Amino acid sequence: MDQQKNKTVAPRNYIIRITVVAALGGLLFGYDTAVIAGAIGYLQEKFVLSPVLVGWAASSAIWGCILGAAMAGYVSDRFGRKKILIATGVLFLISALGSAVAVDLSSFVIARLVGGIGVGAASMLSPLYISEVAPAKHRGRLVSIYQLAIVFGINIIYIVNYLISVSGSNSWNVDYGWRYMIGSEAIPAVIFFVLLFSVPESPRWLLKNGRDEKAGDILQKINGDKAGAIKQEIQDTLKLESGRPGDLFGKGLRLAFVVGIVLALFSQITGINAVIYFAPEIFKSIGFGVESAFYQTIFIGVINTIFTFVALWLIDRAGRKKLLVWGVSGMILCLCAIGICFYFEMTTGPWLILFVLGFIACFASSLGPVPWVMISEIFPTKIRGIAMSFCTLVLWIGVILITQLTPVMLDVLGGASTFWIFMCNAVILLLFTLKYVPETRGRSLEQIERSWTKTEDD
Ligand code: GLC
Repeated sequence: MDQQKNKTVAPRNYIIRITVVAALGGLLFGYDTAVIAGAIGYLQEKFVLSPVLVGWAASSAIWGCILGAAMAGYVSDRFGRKKILIATGVLFLISALGSAVAVDLSSFVIARLVGGIGVGAASMLSPLYISEVAPAKHRGRLVSIYQLAIVFGINIIYIVNYLISVSGSNSWNVDYGWRYMIGSEAIPAVIFFVLLFSVPESPRWLLKNGRDEKAGDILQKINGDKAGAIKQEIQDTLKLESGRPGDLFGKGLRLAFVVGIVLALFSQITGINAVIYFAPEIFKSIGFGVESAFYQTIFIGVINTIFTFVALWLIDRAGRKKLLVWGVSGMILCLCAIGICFYFEMTTGPWLILFVLGFIACFASSLGPVPWVMISEIFPTKIRGIAMSFCTLVLWIGVILITQLTPVMLDVLGGASTFWIFMCNAVILLLFTLKYVPETRGRSLEQIERSWTKTEDD
């Protein structure tokens, strides 16, 4: 009896362990992109930066992300998922140390760009890898652990930034504080790099490259008795794939490609990072003190974390589509209400913060994880890397748009119109989801792949 129990528990522990290691790529993503919020003010003083140069210092990593996301698909299709994930660990480390000891703005920007390439690459490779190793039944939940890691990364660095900034005088922070903030990235980077050596290569990538025996062993470790059938299904489906990126524009996969791009883009242009990155500034501008703005931000982090767990719990039960429909509907209501608060200048009472938290809760339980899950599962194995690269690239372009435009929109249009624009985008996403997004819960990657051709034939 006990032996039987061990047999079923062992693969489960194994898959959880490798998922958590790969998901650390998400932790670094959250950590490295949010660190700048705390460091930028001191950096500006240290290097006497104009507003344009501040913008450049803050966004240099994100430009790197675009580059990293664009390249990672191709190189990981060629050299393997694991090798390139390890390479991102090296980039994270070089960037952390390089930006911490930067002597001027140029060296800082270059080091951040390098880290950005790592973030961009890991942002697509971590979910893709998890999706390729995960058993179909738990894939949604396992890929969502990646989103949870992003949220943890954001929360941890907010606290680290705060603790560093209150532990010294302003002049100490200007000289050293920001260096510690950014340098602290080295710790998760080293952990990620070292642990990656303990995970296996993606069995789907191995099968694609004819390394059947090794792939079989890994599938066996993950899936136990079902490994043989899964291996057969993957091999049969691979035989049907042409591997031409052009297929993404052809009959069948075209819809998958559009779904991937729309989910990636709209996860950004519905305003999540306007809140995550600019919340302290928005709260300060409507009259909250620095301390209380900090606590509101921590509140946002806590709600983001709790509701990501809700998504983890629901994504393989209720399904991706249902989560999206309910979550995005909730976001629409909250965005509408936030706009109303700004419009009627009800910004100092409890309502605004309540609706902001409601917005975060709805996002975290749906639009946070679902796009990562879906863009990692809807494409054929032979072109998954390239297709996902493209969708992730679009996602990062969305991040750039929002980070550059939000301050301008708040300034020129005001809070009400800014949040109502996000609301309109959410309405478009809801309608698109209802009409075009398929349910992929519980199906193997190969079954999902075959379903696209069927849909267009019907
Ligand atoms: C998602 C978004 C990312 C955002 C995060 C916040 O991962 O893609 O841009 O910062 O959620 O929880």
